[in-house]
Amino acid sequence: MNHFEYKDDELYCEGVSLAKIAEECGTPAYVYSHATFTRHFQVFDEALASVPHLICFSVKANSNIAILNLLGSLGCGADIVSGGELVRALRAGIAADKIVFSGVGKTAEEMRSALEAGILSFNVESVAELELLNTVAGEVGKMAPVSLRINPDVDAKTHPYISTGLQKNKFGIPWTRAEESYQRAAEMAHIEVKGVDCHIGSQLVDTKPFVAASEKLAILVDSLFEQGIPITHLDVGGGLGIRYSEPGEDEPPSPASYGEALLGPLTCLRKHNIKLLCEPGRVIAGNAGVLLTKVLYCKESEVKKFAITDAAFNDLMRPSLYDAYHPIRPVAKHADREMIVSDVVGPICESGDFFARDRDLVEVRAGELLSIGSAGAYGFSMSSNYNSRPRACEILVKGSDYHVIRKRETVEQMLENESIPEL
Ligand code: LLP
Repeated sequence: MNHFEYKDDELYCEGVSLAKIAEECGTPAYVYSHATFTRHFQVFDEALASVPHLICFSVKANSNIAILNLLGSLGCGADIVSGGELVRALRAGIAADKIVFSGVGKTAEEMRSALEAGILSFNVESVAELELLNTVAGEVGKMAPVSLRINPDVDAKTHPYISTGLQKNKFGIPWTRAEESYQRAAEMAHIEVKGVDCHIGSQLVDTKPFVAASEKLAILVDSLFEQGIPITHLDVGGGLGIRYSEPGEDEPPSPASYGEALLGPLTCLRKHNIKLLCEPGRVIAGNAGVLLTKVLYCKESEVKKFAITDAAFNDLMRPSLYDAYHPIRPVAKHADREMIVSDVVGPICESGDFFARDRDLVEVRAGELLSIGSAGAYGFSMSSNYNSRPRACEILVKGSDYHVIRKRETVEQMLENESIPEL
């Protein structure tokens, strides 16, 4: 459920009309709903209520500090993948002991900052990384809390670019080498083994891969305890998918059924008194945001109709990059207009710059607004300045108020770090 709904044929985010935001803040603009973020977090939290747990929001999905602050105020921690995300999470008020650090390529500098901040855990993805972390922790004079990310060789059956749990993927330590890697970690002077970690992919629309991964993790946890390596948390990663299409199609599992599927095989949690950690991103943020854009021109070729918008694939890459479907709705509903089949495209000089192809839409006209839905996760956070387009603003709506949580970038800001050398 989300709070982007029509009232008297006008699309609203909670109590604020999107037309008002467009008029006052301009377009393209990302618009987020405070109530939707809150609800999504709470529903997810309830789904895991039967076990002690900590939800670490995956910052890469939406890294605006106002969003992180909102989630943090609900009790959420953070899953980070860079030094930049560490600073964001801390600045947003998330306590360091609620932060886990994932990623296959952490630098020594990033390790140092995270150790100094006192994070909850490093999700280590290789023995080589473990060795570097041990050295850096020795230099800093601290013990590095560690989970090893285990690659369970489970097929997440999702888009190949966002599937991560197979042997052929670059992620994690192979399932078959898990135990020997834990033995190595346990011997290292500046490493403190805290947990087991896993993440098999993103936008999963079936619970079976989660069950398969949980079953393997449960075996590993039991065997670690048998070998005298007690752990205190199990991090199952993120990955639960959301509905991008219209209701009824492509229905992902609810957080409740995800929770049941995941926890079913994890009897080890109670047995060993282990805390569950998870790293959801999309399921919390995806349907809590839209990209608001204005139609600049409509044009027609012999074979196609196009609506050209002021947003482009530098603002929202997902359709171009993953051929992802995003629902598109007119901000003003015109019941009298006919349905057309149209492409919705941006102004960038590439045919890959599209939001929808051959989409059934109510006829749109130049100057009108469109709302590109399900854009709250991996929307702004993946945006770029390609074609020297300043990045969009971000707006957070709460009830009948809205707040600019990121100003629209200016051309001057975009050029700030560039200079012409005297040659
Ligand atoms: N934990 C780790 C270690 C991850 O790599 C990810 C996402 C997550 C958690 C959060 O996964 P989620 O709950 O959001 O599925 N840009 C792509 C998605 C990339 C996901 C990368 N890792 C997209 O737009 O679909």
